[in-house]
Amino acid sequence: MGLTFIAIKPDGVHRGLVGEIIARFEKRGLKLCALKVVVPEKAIAEKHYEEHAGKPFYPGLVDYLCSGPIVAMVWSGKDVVAVTRKMIGATKPAQSEPGTIRGDLALDMGRNVIHGSDSDDSAQREIKLWFKEEEVCSKYVKADRMWV
Ligand code: PPS
Repeated sequence: MGLTFIAIKPDGVHRGLVGEIIARFEKRGLKLCALKVVVPEKAIAEKHYEEHAGKPFYPGLVDYLCSGPIVAMVWSGKDVVAVTRKMIGATKPAQSEPGTIRGDLALDMGRNVIHGSDSDDSAQREIKLWFKEEEVCSKYVKADRMWV
């Protein structure tokens, strides 16, 4: 089973969307492996988005992530990167379909509630950046495994 890194961004936390977002992933059958609430240090946020360094939106994106607490998580499941990206929806609000997290809950590209890793390689890198190895509980078997 793969792993992915998901972060509910400061706007999602302030708007009280944490429970709703976690419920969507749980109901889909994904397994929660790690979770913490943290106000990101600027250096970590810069590293997290390092592939976008130099793009015009990069400084604002880093400041936005550091502007308050985020909920950093690791989720596991079959095709978890692709499944969570689909559930999150497109980056541009006008292109995010209703039924997706952004399509239902976000209107502004710079305040788009949630981040999800876009590949297995990014997921590995991001999980290592945000969590110590012992903080990720990926080995347990969920009791619903025979149903979903
Ligand atoms: S790119 O340029 O196509 O690689 O960018 P994209 O993959 O669509 O987005 C990368 C992350 O940058 C955020 N983003 C922005 N934030 C603020 N303003 C603007 N204009 C903007 N454009 C992109 C976007 O939400 C992505 O962040 P995450 O956290 O990964 O969703």
